[in-house]
Amino acid sequence: MAKHRSAGSPTERLFAEDQKHLFEKSYEERLHEEKNRPVECLGMTFPNDEARREYFLEKLREKLNDPEFRKIEGFPIGSDEDILALSDPPYYTACPNPFIADFIKHYGKPYLPAEASAQAGDPSKPYSREPFAADVSEGKNDPIYNAHSYHTKVPHKAIMRYILHYTEPGDVVFDGFCGTGMAGVAAQLCGDQSAIADLGLGVKADGTVVDSDGQAIGRSGARTPILNDLSPAATLIAAGYNLTKAPADFAVCAKALLENFNKEYGWLHMTRDAKSGDSCPISFTVWSEIFTCPHCSGEIDFWGMAYDEESGTIAGEAKCPHCSAEVSKRDLVRKTTTYFDKAVGAKRHRQVLRPVELHYEHRGAEKTKRPDDQDLAVLQKAEKLLESVKYPTDLVMFVPEGQEWGDLFRGYHEGISRVHDFYLPRQLATFSLLWSLGENLPTAELRRLWRFTLQGIAVSFTRRNRFLKNAYSQVNRALSGTLYIGSTVSEPSPSYVLGGKIKRFHGAIPPFGLRTSVNTGSLAGIGVPPETIDYVFIDPPFGDNLPYAELNFLWEAWLRVFTNAKQDVVVNGKQEKDLSSYTEMMVACLKRVYRVLKPGRWVTVEFHNSKNAVWTAIQEALGRAGFIIGDVSVLDKGMKTKKQLHAKAVDKDLVISAYKPNGGLEKRFELEAGTEDGVWDFIRTHLRQLPVFITKSGIGQVIAERQHVLLFDRMVAFHVQRGVTVPLSAADFYAGLAQRFSERDGMYFLTEQVAEYDKKRLTVKELLELQLFVTDESSAIQWLRQQLLRKPQTAGELKPQFMQEIGGWQKAERLLELDELLEQNFLCYDGKGEVPNQIHSYLSTNFKELRKLAKDDESLRAKGKDRWYVPDPNKAGDLEKLRERSLLKEFEDYRTSSQKRLKVFRLEAVRAGFKMAWQERDYATIITVARKIPENVLQEDPKLLMWYDQALTRSG
Ligand SMILES: C[S@@+](CC[C@H](N)C(=O)[O-])C[C@H]1O[C@@H](n2cnc3c(N)ncnc32)[C@H](O)[C@@H]1O
Repeated sequence: MAKHRSAGSPTERLFAEDQKHLFEKSYEERLHEEKNRPVECLGMTFPNDEARREYFLEKLREKLNDPEFRKIEGFPIGSDEDILALSDPPYYTACPNPFIADFIKHYGKPYLPAEASAQAGDPSKPYSREPFAADVSEGKNDPIYNAHSYHTKVPHKAIMRYILHYTEPGDVVFDGFCGTGMAGVAAQLCGDQSAIADLGLGVKADGTVVDSDGQAIGRSGARTPILNDLSPAATLIAAGYNLTKAPADFAVCAKALLENFNKEYGWLHMTRDAKSGDSCPISFTVWSEIFTCPHCSGEIDFWGMAYDEESGTIAGEAKCPHCSAEVSKRDLVRKTTTYFDKAVGAKRHRQVLRPVELHYEHRGAEKTKRPDDQDLAVLQKAEKLLESVKYPTDLVMFVPEGQEWGDLFRGYHEGISRVHDFYLPRQLATFSLLWSLGENLPTAELRRLWRFTLQGIAVSFTRRNRFLKNAYSQVNRALSGTLYIGSTVSEPSPSYVLGGKIKRFHGAIPPFGLRTSVNTGSLAGIGVPPETIDYVFIDPPFGDNLPYAELNFLWEAWLRVFTNAKQDVVVNGKQEKDLSSYTEMMVACLKRVYRVLKPGRWVTVEFHNSKNAVWTAIQEALGRAGFIIGDVSVLDKGMKTKKQLHAKAVDKDLVISAYKPNGGLEKRFELEAGTEDGVWDFIRTHLRQLPVFITKSGIGQVIAERQHVLLFDRMVAFHVQRGVTVPLSAADFYAGLAQRFSERDGMYFLTEQVAEYDKKRLTVKELLELQLFVTDESSAIQWLRQQLLRKPQTAGELKPQFMQEIGGWQKAERLLELDELLEQNFLCYDGKGEVPNQIHSYLSTNFKELRKLAKDDESLRAKGKDRWYVPDPNKAGDLEKLRERSLLKEFEDYRTSSQKRLKVFRLEAVRAGFKMAWQERDYATIITVARKIPENVLQEDPKLLMWYDQALTRSG
């Protein structure tokens, strides 16, 4: 825990000054009024807001005394007093929020299965939405978005589109990995007409929101957010964004605080203009790290070598100024000194840094100088000042060792093991004094916003703030997502950092008032009652991308309440969290999402995919939690388009839309499980959730989810994840699909959907095919199918294109010859008898001379001979059976093979074999073969992983 030095601190003197100088009179008056204004909260009335807070703080204090309460998953690490100081219950608690259920009772609408959550006051219309995916990077250039940065963030503007699509005004929207709480901002701004207009949308008189073509896309009106994050630093931001009543008052107050700081401590950041001797405010000071030459031990300051933090290159001469030996940064020896650290009462060592350049303002002009004796004297005084201020000295190792600490005590973290080691003395004194200024502010909101504001720029006051000479500002210049410390540091003054920020604050934090519930803890343990949430938007932590607990530690040391890192969903070797523990934690979190969501409702999972195995893990986790995936889209930011995803996509933004099947299906499935009726019931329910027709710029799009292969996969997953045998083979499934549903352009529809499809299909000339990447047998079959549907052709014609496509074929996948693929999956017309329908239609449309000929016409037969085509569903069933037999034979070879590892094999054979073994409850076979195939193949293939995980669970 943070150990703060207490002293008769100079800040106390600051506060001894008459508090009223901090505020303008009008503000004081308002404060007085507020003290006398009764407030309503969750059905109770209080004489004023402070009384409301006091009442609920007392309740929270009682809760904190309950040992069971502290056992909730992800309970942050901090004392009762520190948790209470941050909290503003019942809305925001820096621990699990015990008031969420009351909050939902007050603001939410109960789930009524009979009405299937009838919406918009129209009980005849049951809730129904199609999956939706929009650009998730829209709106990064927005004052709200920029008011407080975070390691990754989804702009509220992007989320608003999702909320408008999926929900109605007043609905409860939940984000369990909320970070800065942008989902809450989005939910509330759906009630703000100008924010909607900012998206390029219009609002009609009746509240209908329309796009630029006049199409209705939702209804305007605020939604009610529930936000959660494991990290107290994150929920502090979320509360700052979502629970502010009077941002303008805060701006006045913050300005006064900064002025007061400058009055008392401005000298810390002043210098003298060399020529005129005028006293001038410093904008920022550049510091350079000192090294020694490996050859002559002479001192080298990095600044002198014109090191560029941005490019990591040396622009000056890479020669030692003393012995002229060629040196690179890697060769240099870091110079350190020993010193007595009074804060911890121990002799320690630290790196040596020197101020090398001051940037200051003189009569409106920006000037630079080398620091002089007076400047150095100020720095010495700052170091002395440190003795009387309080600051956190927590050992960074407090967090289980994580990735950033791999090279602790070496490299750029040499000598850095405690929070205060990240600061230069003047930075630490300045930040600490600023921080304490907020502690005596008169309301919880003002105190929270002061912490919010300082946290937002905290990194600027640490050694992590790199000097980037070409940057337009020196604020928040740390290398994001890491705890990297550069060799040239920029130390800006409080006025430089905060002046503009405070001025802009008013426009950056919306005055929402108190209508959000913020919870701090693990999503896996959140106390939201079941079936109460109308929509979930999450942007989960992605694999080993960012260790949030560690990154937020430096913030949390000032809050004195820390993330419970054990529950941080991350892949991190040093925390002993591998991909499978990541998956398990994700499953636990998504199970909670499944539980709290109303049936028939959607969850949007957005993330940037940098590793296929993690992507597979998230899909697997969604399925295991009970969700059915309705759409996977990849967003191409450059082209601003959305594509349905049909192949692996690394380094792309992905949006998964999944729904919780409505009560009807799950209930019926209990009776139908493992029967054919169950299969078709699932497919019917699933088809109802899918979009009927998609156009983009006047071009229709093939909907992957409606294709037979994906429908089969979803159906199998639905069964397997519920531990039920799949009653149909692929062949029987495909045949049954064709009998029961209408097929159009290779997609399947319900009877009531097909008329709409046909009507809309007439409005577009062409249909854009899915972009396929051939990487294995399964994608090769789909690619061939696409080619042959467009044009039945001979193997000779196909061959050159096929060879081009297979460049990305997976190493472990046995490469199949084109002939083998054709024979096992398609039919070839041998020139005898009638020309098959598909070839006939192709030839008569494309060749004038072949029009209107009988199907057995000789010239037609001659032209059609040797062309391959896609079989109709019945024949496809026969082929599929043959193929399955050959796949299973091959699988049997893998099973019995004495080889420990299979290097090259057929994934389709493993999939078929796993499916059969599953049906026969032969889990040992699945596990044995899974262990023979390379780990990465298993981890990246959602189908294999599903069988394997299930087999492991079931075999105990
Ligand atoms: C990608 S960020 C979310 C960013 C957010 N969408 C925003 O716009 O600011 C993922 C968040 O998940 C949080 N997190 C990690 N493990 C968690 C858990 N078990 N429960 C809740 N939150 C968790 C991290 O602290 C991090 O803030």
